[in-house]
Amino acid sequence: MRAALRDGTPVCIRAVRPSDRERLRLAFERLSAATIYRRFFHPKKGLTSEELRTVTELDFRDHVSLAITVQEQCGERFIAVGRYVRTAPGADRAEMAITVVDDYQHLGAGTLLGHQLVAIARSAGVRELVALVLDENRDMLELLQNLDLPVQRTIEDGVHRVVLEVAGSTPEIDQRRHLGQHVSQPC
Ligand SMILES: CC(C)(COP(=O)(O)OP(=O)(O)OC[C@H]1O[C@@H](n2cnc3c(N)ncnc32)[C@H](O)[C@@H]1OP(=O)(O)O)[C@@H](O)C(=O)NCCC(=O)NCCS
Repeated sequence: MRAALRDGTPVCIRAVRPSDRERLRLAFERLSAATIYRRFFHPKKGLTSEELRTVTELDFRDHVSLAITVQEQCGERFIAVGRYVRTAPGADRAEMAITVVDDYQHLGAGTLLGHQLVAIARSAGVRELVALVLDENRDMLELLQNLDLPVQRTIEDGVHRVVLEVAGSTPEIDQRRHLGQHVSQPC
């Protein structure tokens, strides 16, 4: 699906595929220590082969991952990734996370991914999306608040547990077809 960031940058929002390992690895390399800490809650040097496999080889039922990409001279580059993973196979609750590379933050990429993940979750019968967010992470807390869904928020040891009620659930549909309609079209 084509879209544009707040500054007009044309982007593609699409499903992550197994062939994206290298794009994902390169995107991780461009994250600042602060961004990595906010996402993982601890320092991290890189993604292991096993992690790269897990986050690119998806079933799009229990594990959904979307990327926002830009076209550069050397090819397509990842600038943001958002995913949700059901807490158990087929569960109606899933944990979500979004990461935007530092040089593209505050341009609406995270919000775009948030809306897309909510739409996919809703159509797939997920009732609650849960995000764990550090208290200092005002950007993510604000992003979640701005998705215009009922939100429950609790905090423990400096970590907010934000539960988005994915209201107005529609009957479960074939997830691959939904992705095909919304985010798998060529950009
Ligand atoms: C948190 C994070 C995902 C937010 O992504 P982002 O792309 O910077 O977020 P957005 O640009 O969509 O929203 C950020 C701001 O832009 C505003 N905004 C977004 N789209 C807008 C638009 N079209 N017009 C005007 N304002 C807009 C939002 O209201 C928000 O307000 P701000 O100006 O006070 O910052 C990103 O900062 C990040 O990757 N952080 C590190 C990892 C992390 O914390 N992940 C979350 C762990 S669960």
